[in-house]
Amino acid sequence: MSAPHDDDRLLDHSYDGIQEYDNPMPRWWLYIFWGTIVWGVLFWLNVPGIGVGKGRIADYDASVAAAAADMPAEPSAGPDAAALLAASQDPTAVAAGRTVFGAYCSACHGPDGGGVIGPNLTDAYWIHGGSPEAVYHTVNVGVLEKGMPAWGPTLKPDEVNAVVAYVISLQGTTPAAPKAPEGTMDPPADAPSGDS
Ligand code: HEC
Repeated sequence: MSAPHDDDRLLDHSYDGIQEYDNPMPRWWLYIFWGTIVWGVLFWLNVPGIGVGKGRIADYDASVAAAAADMPAEPSAGPDAAALLAASQDPTAVAAGRTVFGAYCSACHGPDGGGVIGPNLTDAYWIHGGSPEAVYHTVNVGVLEKGMPAWGPTLKPDEVNAVVAYVISLQGTTPAAPKAPEGTMDPPADAPSGDS
């Protein structure tokens, strides 16, 4: 080190003839020293099972659970027919489905489901089946080669459910410009179609 400072004070003890100065540690060093102790206490409080904090593993588990909750459910796992039929008679679900239909379906199926490029959805004739499961399946996976997109990957599961409920609720309604029936007669069981 450099030459002794003016304020170097020789302590008055001597061990085996060795004497030492009383040089305090620099302020910056002391602040870091005390800081690490305070940090250590706070960190220790965050150790799982001891302190107030839940710890990194719990934090990790919580973020995994949050991410899992954000993931859409498997698109193939649809609701059963009874649930879809019930939803088709539930004004809230039907209203939600009408919104989805207006946004994504009316361009091809008409604003009232009467059909444009896509077939008429209000009659009891279906190309791919009129049962709730069949309608759900068609909407979910689409008929890509015929120009009907798959909506399962695009919409949220509850949006698919709602729009299927809405499509079922269209049974027996009278659109402004109905397209001629296509497919075979297959009314959704117990749907409000008047003839089932
Ligand atoms: C790009 C145009 C297009 C859009 C958008 C579209 N569809 Fe279709 N859809 C079609 C076509 C075309 C068919 C007929 C497929 C066939 O001939 O096999 C069809 C068929 C269907 C069928 C089966 C009808 C039957 O007779 O079996 C249902 C149900 C249906 N669409 C519902 C929907 C819903 C719900 C939406 C909105 C989420 C939607 N479609 C959006 C074009 C479209």
